[in-house]
Amino acid sequence: MSILEATRLVKRFGPVTAVNDVSLTVGEGEVVALLGPNGAGKSTTLHMVLGLITPDSGSIVLFGQELARHRVEVLSRINFAASYVDLPGALRVHEVLDAFARMYAVRRPRERVAELVELFELGPLAKRKVMTLSSGQRTRVQLAKALLNRPRLLVLDEPTANLDPDAGDRIRGLLSALARQDGSAMLITSHNMREVERMCDRICFMSHGLIVASGSAKELAGHYGAEDLEEVFLKVARG
Ligand SMILES: Nc1ncnc2c1ncn2[C@@H]1O[C@H](COP(=O)(O)OP(=O)(O)OP(=O)(O)O)[C@@H](O)[C@H]1O
Ligand SMILES: [Mg+2]
Repeated sequence: MSILEATRLVKRFGPVTAVNDVSLTVGEGEVVALLGPNGAGKSTTLHMVLGLITPDSGSIVLFGQELARHRVEVLSRINFAASYVDLPGALRVHEVLDAFARMYAVRRPRERVAELVELFELGPLAKRKVMTLSSGQRTRVQLAKALLNRPRLLVLDEPTANLDPDAGDRIRGLLSALARQDGSAMLITSHNMREVERMCDRICFMSHGLIVASGSAKELAGHYGAEDLEEVFLKVARG
Protein backbone atom coordinates (compact mmCIF):
# COMPACT_ATOMS: atom_id res chain seq x y z
CA MET A 1 0.00 0.00 0.00
CA SER A 2 1.21 3.51 -0.77
CA ILE A 3 1.58 5.95 2.08
CA LEU A 4 0.67 8.84 -0.17
CA GLU A 5 -0.99 8.97 -3.56
CA ALA A 6 -1.58 12.48 -4.79
CA THR A 7 -3.24 12.64 -8.18
CA ARG A 8 -3.46 15.59 -10.55
CA LEU A 9 -3.29 18.32 -7.91
CA VAL A 10 -4.02 21.85 -9.00
CA LYS A 11 -3.90 24.95 -6.81
CA ARG A 12 -4.38 28.52 -7.95
CA PHE A 13 -3.98 31.70 -5.94
CA GLY A 14 -5.84 34.34 -7.94
CA PRO A 15 -3.96 34.66 -11.21
CA VAL A 16 -1.06 32.47 -10.04
CA THR A 17 -1.20 28.74 -10.72
CA ALA A 18 1.09 27.53 -7.92
CA VAL A 19 0.57 23.82 -8.62
CA ASN A 20 -0.54 22.70 -12.04
CA ASP A 21 -1.34 19.00 -12.37
CA VAL A 22 1.05 17.33 -9.94
CA SER A 23 0.87 13.59 -9.25
CA LEU A 24 3.08 12.07 -6.62
CA THR A 25 3.41 8.85 -4.67
CA VAL A 26 5.36 7.96 -1.56
CA GLY A 27 5.76 4.30 -0.68
CA GLU A 28 6.31 2.73 2.72
CA GLY A 29 9.66 3.73 4.20
CA GLU A 30 10.48 5.84 1.18
CA VAL A 31 12.17 9.24 1.47
CA VAL A 32 11.05 11.48 -1.39
CA ALA A 33 12.27 15.00 -2.11
CA LEU A 34 10.52 17.82 -3.90
CA LEU A 35 13.18 19.92 -5.50
CA GLY A 36 13.00 23.04 -7.60
CA PRO A 37 13.50 26.78 -7.81
CA ASN A 38 11.88 29.32 -5.49
CA GLY A 39 8.20 29.59 -6.30
CA ALA A 40 8.05 26.23 -8.10
CA GLY A 41 5.12 25.04 -5.95
CA LYS A 42 6.87 22.74 -3.46
CA SER A 43 5.47 24.20 -0.23
CA THR A 44 2.03 24.56 -1.77
CA THR A 45 2.11 20.84 -2.64
CA LEU A 46 3.14 19.94 0.92
CA HIS A 47 0.39 22.16 2.35
CA MET A 48 -2.22 20.32 0.31
CA VAL A 49 -0.90 16.94 1.49
CA LEU A 50 -1.13 18.24 5.07
CA GLY A 51 -4.71 19.41 4.59
CA LEU A 52 -3.71 23.01 5.37
CA ILE A 53 -5.10 24.16 2.04
CA THR A 54 -7.61 22.50 -0.26
CA PRO A 55 -6.67 21.68 -3.84
CA ASP A 56 -8.82 23.23 -6.57
CA SER A 57 -8.85 19.79 -8.15
CA GLY A 58 -7.19 16.42 -7.80
CA SER A 59 -7.18 13.91 -4.96
CA ILE A 60 -5.00 13.06 -2.00
CA VAL A 61 -5.09 9.54 -0.60
CA LEU A 62 -3.08 8.80 2.53
CA PHE A 63 -2.79 5.22 3.87
CA GLY A 64 -5.44 4.18 1.39
CA GLN A 65 -7.96 6.76 2.63
CA GLU A 66 -9.12 9.92 0.94
CA LEU A 67 -7.88 12.93 2.95
CA ALA A 68 -10.98 14.98 2.22
CA ARG A 69 -13.24 12.33 3.78
CA HIS A 70 -11.09 10.87 6.57
CA ARG A 71 -9.28 13.99 7.68
CA VAL A 72 -8.91 13.35 11.41
CA GLU A 73 -7.81 9.70 11.13
CA VAL A 74 -5.41 10.38 8.32
CA LEU A 75 -3.85 13.50 9.80
CA SER A 76 -3.25 11.76 13.13
CA ARG A 77 -0.72 9.53 11.36
CA ILE A 78 1.34 12.27 9.79
CA ASN A 79 3.32 15.26 11.06
CA PHE A 80 5.09 18.31 9.79
CA ALA A 81 8.05 20.54 10.55
CA ALA A 82 9.08 23.78 8.87
CA SER A 83 11.14 26.71 10.02
CA TYR A 84 8.32 29.14 9.17
CA VAL A 85 5.88 27.56 11.62
CA ASP A 86 6.13 29.25 15.00
CA LEU A 87 6.01 27.36 18.25
CA PRO A 88 4.45 29.14 21.24
CA GLY A 89 7.40 31.32 22.26
CA ALA A 90 6.37 31.99 25.87
CA LEU A 91 6.38 28.28 26.71
CA ARG A 92 9.42 26.33 27.82
CA VAL A 93 10.74 23.58 25.55
CA HIS A 94 9.46 20.78 27.79
CA GLU A 95 6.07 22.50 28.10
CA VAL A 96 5.74 22.69 24.32
CA LEU A 97 6.58 19.02 23.90
CA ASP A 98 4.29 17.98 26.78
CA ALA A 99 1.42 20.03 25.35
CA PHE A 100 1.76 18.58 21.84
CA ALA A 101 2.15 15.05 23.22
CA ARG A 102 -1.21 15.47 25.00
CA MET A 103 -2.82 17.10 22.00
CA TYR A 104 -1.73 14.16 19.84
CA ALA A 105 -2.94 11.72 22.52
CA VAL A 106 0.47 10.04 22.51
CA ARG A 107 0.66 6.85 24.53
CA ARG A 108 2.92 7.31 27.60
CA PRO A 109 3.58 10.97 26.80
CA ARG A 110 6.27 11.52 29.47
CA GLU A 111 8.40 8.67 28.15
CA ARG A 112 7.96 9.76 24.55
CA VAL A 113 8.97 13.35 25.34
CA ALA A 114 12.01 12.11 27.29
CA GLU A 115 13.06 9.91 24.34
CA LEU A 116 12.89 12.80 21.91
CA VAL A 117 14.62 15.23 24.28
CA GLU A 118 17.47 12.75 24.39
CA LEU A 119 17.47 12.08 20.64
CA PHE A 120 17.64 15.77 19.74
CA GLU A 121 19.96 16.66 22.66
CA LEU A 122 17.39 19.08 24.08
CA GLY A 123 18.14 18.32 27.75
CA PRO A 124 20.15 21.51 28.34
CA LEU A 125 17.42 23.58 26.67
CA ALA A 126 14.38 21.93 28.27
CA LYS A 127 13.70 24.77 30.74
CA ARG A 128 14.35 27.58 28.29
CA LYS A 129 11.49 29.58 26.77
CA VAL A 130 11.19 28.86 23.07
CA MET A 131 11.49 32.56 22.18
CA THR A 132 15.00 32.65 23.66
CA LEU A 133 16.31 29.84 21.44
CA SER A 134 18.44 30.31 18.35
CA SER A 135 16.84 29.30 15.07
CA GLY A 136 18.89 26.11 14.90
CA GLN A 137 17.83 25.19 18.44
CA ARG A 138 14.20 25.84 17.52
CA THR A 139 14.57 23.54 14.53
CA ARG A 140 15.52 20.70 16.86
CA VAL A 141 12.43 21.40 19.00
CA GLN A 142 10.28 21.45 15.83
CA LEU A 143 11.63 18.08 14.73
CA ALA A 144 11.13 16.56 18.18
CA LYS A 145 7.54 17.85 18.16
CA ALA A 146 7.00 16.42 14.68
CA LEU A 147 8.07 12.95 15.80
CA LEU A 148 5.96 12.81 18.99
CA ASN A 149 3.11 10.86 17.37
CA ARG A 150 5.48 8.45 15.57
CA PRO A 151 4.22 9.63 12.19
CA ARG A 152 4.01 7.12 9.35
CA LEU A 153 4.59 10.07 7.04
CA LEU A 154 6.82 12.93 8.09
CA VAL A 155 6.55 16.04 5.95
CA LEU A 156 9.49 18.42 6.24
CA ASP A 157 9.74 21.76 4.48
CA GLU A 158 13.44 22.68 4.37
CA PRO A 159 14.16 20.94 7.68
CA THR A 160 17.83 21.82 7.98
CA ALA A 161 17.81 25.31 6.43
CA ASN A 162 18.70 26.96 9.76
CA LEU A 163 21.26 24.46 10.96
CA ASP A 164 25.01 24.87 10.93
CA PRO A 165 26.86 22.21 8.89
CA ASP A 166 27.62 20.09 11.95
CA ALA A 167 24.07 20.20 13.36
CA GLY A 168 22.65 19.69 9.86
CA ASP A 169 24.78 16.64 9.35
CA ARG A 170 23.73 15.13 12.66
CA ILE A 171 20.05 15.81 12.03
CA ARG A 172 20.27 14.23 8.57
CA GLY A 173 21.87 11.17 10.15
CA LEU A 174 19.09 11.00 12.75
CA LEU A 175 16.31 11.36 10.20
CA SER A 176 17.83 8.74 7.90
CA ALA A 177 18.17 6.35 10.83
CA LEU A 178 14.52 6.93 11.78
CA ALA A 179 13.42 6.20 8.25
CA ARG A 180 15.36 2.94 8.29
CA GLN A 181 14.39 1.80 11.80
CA ASP A 182 10.73 2.77 12.01
CA GLY A 183 10.00 2.57 8.30
CA SER A 184 8.55 6.09 8.45
CA ALA A 185 8.17 7.61 5.03
CA MET A 186 9.26 11.18 4.47
CA LEU A 187 8.39 13.87 1.99
CA ILE A 188 10.86 16.72 2.18
CA THR A 189 11.89 19.84 0.37
CA SER A 190 15.38 21.23 0.47
CA HIS A 191 17.72 23.55 -1.37
CA ASN A 192 20.69 21.56 -0.08
CA MET A 193 21.64 19.21 -2.91
CA ARG A 194 24.04 17.13 -0.84
CA GLU A 195 21.33 16.60 1.74
CA VAL A 196 18.92 15.38 -0.92
CA GLU A 197 21.55 13.11 -2.47
CA ARG A 198 22.32 11.62 0.90
CA MET A 199 18.81 11.23 2.33
CA CYS A 200 16.37 10.71 -0.49
CA ASP A 201 15.46 7.58 -2.44
CA ARG A 202 13.63 9.52 -5.08
CA ILE A 203 13.49 13.11 -6.26
CA CYS A 204 10.63 14.91 -7.97
CA PHE A 205 11.87 18.01 -9.69
CA MET A 206 9.29 20.80 -9.82
CA SER A 207 9.29 23.84 -12.03
CA HIS A 208 6.41 26.30 -12.55
CA GLY A 209 3.95 24.05 -10.72
CA LEU A 210 4.81 20.89 -12.63
CA ILE A 211 6.96 17.84 -11.96
CA VAL A 212 9.38 17.99 -14.86
CA ALA A 213 11.70 15.12 -13.92
CA SER A 214 11.87 12.36 -11.33
CA GLY A 215 14.15 9.53 -10.31
CA SER A 216 17.03 8.81 -7.95
CA ALA A 217 19.86 11.34 -7.78
CA LYS A 218 21.97 8.94 -9.86
CA GLU A 219 19.27 8.43 -12.48
CA LEU A 220 18.71 12.16 -12.83
CA ALA A 221 22.43 12.85 -13.14
CA GLY A 222 22.68 10.14 -15.82
CA HIS A 223 19.64 11.43 -17.68
CA TYR A 224 20.91 15.01 -17.80
CA GLY A 225 24.55 14.08 -18.35
CA ALA A 226 25.43 15.87 -15.11
CA GLU A 227 28.14 15.28 -12.50
CA ASP A 228 25.80 15.60 -9.55
CA LEU A 229 22.39 16.87 -8.44
CA GLU A 230 23.58 20.46 -8.21
CA GLU A 231 24.40 20.38 -11.92
CA VAL A 232 21.04 18.70 -12.67
CA PHE A 233 19.32 21.50 -10.75
CA LEU A 234 21.07 24.21 -12.74
CA LYS A 235 20.35 22.48 -16.04
CA VAL A 236 16.66 21.93 -15.28
CA ALA A 237 16.10 25.32 -13.64
CA ARG A 238 17.73 27.18 -16.50
CA GLY A 239 15.78 25.15 -19.02
N1 LIG B 1 -1.21 32.06 -0.08
C1 LIG B 1 -0.74 32.44 -1.27
N2 LIG B 1 -1.29 33.46 -1.92
C2 LIG B 1 -0.83 33.86 -3.15
N3 LIG B 1 0.17 33.25 -3.78
C3 LIG B 1 0.77 32.22 -3.18
C4 LIG B 1 0.36 31.76 -1.90
N4 LIG B 1 1.13 30.69 -1.55
C5 LIG B 1 1.99 30.52 -2.58
N5 LIG B 1 1.77 31.41 -3.55
C6 LIG B 1 2.50 31.51 -4.83
O1 LIG B 1 2.53 30.21 -5.41
C7 LIG B 1 3.78 29.96 -6.03
C8 LIG B 1 4.41 28.72 -5.42
O2 LIG B 1 4.81 28.99 -4.09
P1 LIG B 1 5.46 27.91 -3.13
O3 LIG B 1 5.57 28.52 -1.78
O4 LIG B 1 4.70 26.65 -3.25
O5 LIG B 1 6.90 27.73 -3.79
P2 LIG B 1 8.15 26.86 -3.29
O6 LIG B 1 8.48 25.93 -4.40
O7 LIG B 1 7.89 26.31 -1.96
O8 LIG B 1 9.31 27.98 -3.25
P3 LIG B 1 10.52 28.20 -2.19
O9 LIG B 1 11.67 27.37 -2.70
O10 LIG B 1 10.82 29.67 -2.36
O11 LIG B 1 10.08 27.84 -0.82
C9 LIG B 1 4.60 31.24 -5.85
O12 LIG B 1 4.46 32.01 -7.01
C10 LIG B 1 3.95 31.91 -4.65
O13 LIG B 1 4.13 33.30 -4.68
MG1 LIG C 1 8.74 26.61 -0.10
